[in-house]
Amino acid sequence: MLYIASDHAGYQLKEEIKRYLQLLNYSFEDLGPKEFDPNDDYPDFAFAVAKKVADEGGEGILFCGTGQGVCLAANKIRGIRAVSAYDEFMARQAKEHLDSNILCLGGRVLDAEMAKKIVKTWLDTGFSGEERHERRLGKIEEMENGQK
Ligand code: RB5
Repeated sequence: MLYIASDHAGYQLKEEIKRYLQLLNYSFEDLGPKEFDPNDDYPDFAFAVAKKVADEGGEGILFCGTGQGVCLAANKIRGIRAVSAYDEFMARQAKEHLDSNILCLGGRVLDAEMAKKIVKTWLDTGFSGEERHERRLGKIEEMENGQK
């Protein structure tokens, strides 16, 4: 399953991307907010998506003003590899090299057309599985597990 959520600064882009995902026939679950709330806080939505992905698998897309706040928060959850991207190259490498499971986008820095290209590229790309990338991700996992 694909889980999505935003804060107020990413709300409009989230709604735009929801329409795009429907057009592409991607199923997703919107973890909020259901309505625009100018006072909401990005960690609440980042944690909701990150916990779902960590517990149940699948992927997530998070939106805030820059894509940075939700990324910072999501990466606090064990097993999450959240990245932000601002073009298709970054979106592709985020999967091929980093095996990212959450994509973070900024509603104040991306126009909707670029955001759609990033989303489609990220969803359509898989992890390369190359040894060097496995090795590097393994080092991050070890650190996360407190083994080193
Ligand atoms: C909210 O004003 C803004 O700080 C937040 O959406 C995000 O951009 C943080 O990175």
